[in-house]
Amino acid sequence: MKNNISPQDYWESRFKDIDPETYDFSESKPAATLAHFCDKYLKEGDTVLDVACGGGRNAHYLAQRGYTVYGIDFAKSAIEFCKKRFVRFNLSGTFKQGTMDNLAFPNDFFAGVMCMAAIDHVTTDCARRVLGEIRRVLVPGKAILLTFDHPKQDEDIIHLAEVLVDGTFKYIHGEYVGMLFRRYTDEEIELLIGKQNIISFDHTEEGARVIICK
Ligand SMILES: C[S@@+](CC[C@H](N)C(=O)[O-])C[C@H]1O[C@@H](n2cnc3c(N)ncnc32)[C@H](O)[C@@H]1O
Repeated sequence: MKNNISPQDYWESRFKDIDPETYDFSESKPAATLAHFCDKYLKEGDTVLDVACGGGRNAHYLAQRGYTVYGIDFAKSAIEFCKKRFVRFNLSGTFKQGTMDNLAFPNDFFAGVMCMAAIDHVTTDCARRVLGEIRRVLVPGKAILLTFDHPKQDEDIIHLAEVLVDGTFKYIHGEYVGMLFRRYTDEEIELLIGKQNIISFDHTEEGARVIICK
């Protein structure tokens, strides 16, 4: 059993062997919901933050649309990949290594914040802090885009993971060892965000949840 691998170790390993010079970028499309969010909630040139940006598929799209893009992720390998990716495509953006529940940005700095397929990869306590931090760095009244994966994305999860006290799974077997995954129900997501803060709550065909909120 390899359960001493931390979530950060897991994510570092996901990005460490990929090279923007040889990477197949056709595999790296932005999240389908991002265009709608930009059209409806952002204006030209806005400053935006991609929280837990991973390999930068969403940051890439945002930069191509002309926004002033910042990205943070705790995996150094992901941040390095994003920086090289932006150089390769001649895009402008700022990437910082950091944890998403302690954002190293001033208050009221961003006109839009997105956190895609990531807030369900931390514990619920951490997710609450992430939302607090996103709200702190967001200009009051502006919108947040969040996605949560399908709650039953991995039917066999119980055989592969241990369950932490708050119900978050931590993988201890298989290819995701170290990764955290909290399978929220729709009701739990509403509780986490606060129903009164939710502008829209949609389900993709694959069953992921797409939330625009304050
Ligand atoms: C499934 S990937 C999603 C990446 C990107 N948002 C996307 O949509 O392609 C989850 C990302 O969350 C990052 N992550 C997980 N926990 C984190 C934390 N506590 N602080 C910062 N980043 C974190 C991982 O390093 C990884 O890049």
